[in-house]
Amino acid sequence: MALFQWNNSFSVNNSEIDKQHQKLVELVNSLHDAMSQGKSKDVLGKIFNDLIIYTKSHFKSEENLMLNKNYPDYTAHRLEHQKLTNQVIKLKAEFDAGKVVISIELLNFLKDWLKKHILETDKKYMPFVN
Ligand SMILES: [Fe+2]
Ligand SMILES: [Fe+2]
Repeated sequence: MALFQWNNSFSVNNSEIDKQHQKLVELVNSLHDAMSQGKSKDVLGKIFNDLIIYTKSHFKSEENLMLNKNYPDYTAHRLEHQKLTNQVIKLKAEFDAGKVVISIELLNFLKDWLKKHILETDKKYMPFVN
């Protein structure tokens, strides 16, 4: 079973952004699957890296959308994106250095990291961007 099940409560009523969030969920699930199957560090590292790259591009497109719509909380939202990005980059560096391994705790952290941001922060821009 997938670690992270997408459901409509995550929707921000913007099909493009929903698609991007679904892709992020999929990447977290892929990392979980690869871990469960005992894949090599190289394979795990590659998926982890894809997750970071896709997260950055998603944040960028959300920021552009908020800017275009003159979203009043743009700055605070962008700051949260930067914080989240730094957290995940730090984790990846620790993983590369062999200081952390991909574990269920780490995956739950990534899941909650994403879930909380979508439900608590992204949802706030809904009335402005749709
Ligand atoms: Fe988002
Ligand atoms: Fe966001």
